[in-house]
Amino acid sequence: MYFGADYYPEHWPRERWEADAQMMQAAHINVVRLAEFAWSKLEPTEGHYDFAWLDEAIDILNQHGIQVIIGTPTATPPKWLIDKYPDILPVDADGHVRGFGSRCHYCATNKNYHWHSDLIVGQLAKHYGHHPGVIGWQTDNEFGCHSTTRCYCDSCRKAFRQWLQQKYGTLEALNEAWGTVFWSQTYETWDQVIIPRKTVASHNPSLLLDFYRFSSDMKVEFQARQLRILRQHSTNQFITHNLMGLFPEIDYYDLAKDLDFVSWDNYPRYSGAPDSTRLALSHDLMRGIRKQNFWVMEEQSGPSGWEIVHSTPRPGEIRLWTYQAVSRGADGIVYFRWRTCRFGTEEYWHGIIDHDGRPRRRYREIQETGKELAELWPFLDGTEVKNDVAILYSYDQLWSLQIQPNNPSLQYTEIVKEYYKRLHELNIGVDLVNHTDEFTDYKILIAPLLYLMTPELALRLTKFVESGGILVTTFRSGVKNWDNVVTDKTLPGELSELIGVEIEEYDSIYGETPIGISMELQGYKVEGTASTWCDVIIPGTADTLAKYTTEYYAGQTAITQNSLGKGKAIYVGTRLDANLTARLMDHVLTLAGVARGPLAETGIEVSIRGKAGMRLLFLLNHSGKKQTVDLTQHYVDPLTDVPITGRLELPAYGVEVLREV
Ligand code: GAL
Ligand code: ZN
Repeated sequence: MYFGADYYPEHWPRERWEADAQMMQAAHINVVRLAEFAWSKLEPTEGHYDFAWLDEAIDILNQHGIQVIIGTPTATPPKWLIDKYPDILPVDADGHVRGFGSRCHYCATNKNYHWHSDLIVGQLAKHYGHHPGVIGWQTDNEFGCHSTTRCYCDSCRKAFRQWLQQKYGTLEALNEAWGTVFWSQTYETWDQVIIPRKTVASHNPSLLLDFYRFSSDMKVEFQARQLRILRQHSTNQFITHNLMGLFPEIDYYDLAKDLDFVSWDNYPRYSGAPDSTRLALSHDLMRGIRKQNFWVMEEQSGPSGWEIVHSTPRPGEIRLWTYQAVSRGADGIVYFRWRTCRFGTEEYWHGIIDHDGRPRRRYREIQETGKELAELWPFLDGTEVKNDVAILYSYDQLWSLQIQPNNPSLQYTEIVKEYYKRLHELNIGVDLVNHTDEFTDYKILIAPLLYLMTPELALRLTKFVESGGILVTTFRSGVKNWDNVVTDKTLPGELSELIGVEIEEYDSIYGETPIGISMELQGYKVEGTASTWCDVIIPGTADTLAKYTTEYYAGQTAITQNSLGKGKAIYVGTRLDANLTARLMDHVLTLAGVARGPLAETGIEVSIRGKAGMRLLFLLNHSGKKQTVDLTQHYVDPLTDVPITGRLELPAYGVEVLREV
């Protein structure tokens, strides 16, 4: 197993490197990522490269059995480069330049930047592409961090026009697709087309959605330049990028398409207790992006902080987060950062060891975790996470709903998470999938807020249901086409036949008073509340599962279930409270014959990794209190084969790994 730290030798005197490497080795660290911000050390002046210091650092690490991942340093263009080509700096929506002095200060479409990024990446690739102690590369660092996905500079304006020209072919097609006749926005020449800088009021939603897509594509293309160069000059080295979990600005399915695997940066604890559901969802998305195991390239190892210091990881928490990542598919864990830096913006973003360089509690915890994982690796190696339930997570849906939330409290990822939460409580594994994926491997597909719809997607969803799948979708589905224009069909538009209903009208819910709702599932009744949005549904071929009990639409249908072929399509016309969501999900699980997971509803998170003939269960206590659970199956300790049955006590933040027998 790869177990490591993010290391910045350039922040410490040369004499310290040996001691660092020794301490790392003693902590079972076998990999470090380095150099991702070191451009000014690697190319101090234009065209003068100095890799000697990095060679030396890598040598010392390699001598201690530690392999290296090099980050391309393009998130921090140096001062000489910015002074020479100030147009590299990104521009915000107000038209103001975002200046030098922090990081990510570059525009991804700038030709001067392309040229210099290609040069530094090429030099590094030639120098280290065959180095036996360098196992891989990280492109840039957290593309889009600090709201840098969308740039509004002149170069981007030009690139946007080109992108649109490629997409639409003719201006007539663009005018038609966007509905520019509205408010006299019709374009007559390509160079009239605007980039969505600040205006008096809101922009055309179709233009905005295309701009979000374009901006994401520009990061993907910028990365592609690096991938081409790195692949050209390297052998047997992987390429990854450190993604940011639920970061909403880049289509991660696109960004990761040509990587060897996904990695991501996981910082669970800021001001308060971490949200284990959100963490699990993030891991599952990161696995779903390429349907493959992943790495954590930055795992929190101390209190985080720039100007403010956030709370310190509780004893056991770093180990717990590590196991949570592993349990959901991580094959590599790299802690951020080795030693807490004494200077610069991140002085208080603590690492494994403190400013004074001495190992303490957090070092010992990581050391212990590294030892355990090394022992466990022969069992873990080659295992995967396999699930019957999928949740559709689409950046096009996310963006279109960011542009028009429809209701102030509607947030795409939050609503996805509400459905995910019940599955998480029940320890039922979930895969996150894209709208372009095949759904047929799954028994259940939860697809909230299918705001944008195409006939093709509607057909794929229909086929999924016809062949026996259970689909759950919600209000604000089938509303618009892929150009972000409202359908002229009766809602739910393209989905009408599949869902078997008509939406007669809808009510966007404001204020504190929730709407009453009564649900009847398999003979028993539950009362609860709904909020955010209420579709008033006329069931056609579908059966009614719930009705509103208040407002002028009391007695009218809120949730339906339609049978089609061997499967069923459930439509939830409103946002349910947590209890109703849970009851509805229980119903869905029963329909699909998906069993509750081990230790469901005990508060202990369980995730399973398996391979032929073996399944490993990870039991995680995310709470600060000890918890006792009763095992209903027989398990053994994977390392010793000692049977583990019956009552099991998990200390605060405790972890158990069991092998099924
Ligand atoms: C990450 C980033 C690191 C470091 C860390 C702490 O977002 O990749 O370079 O900045 O956060 O702020
Ligand atoms: Zn730009």
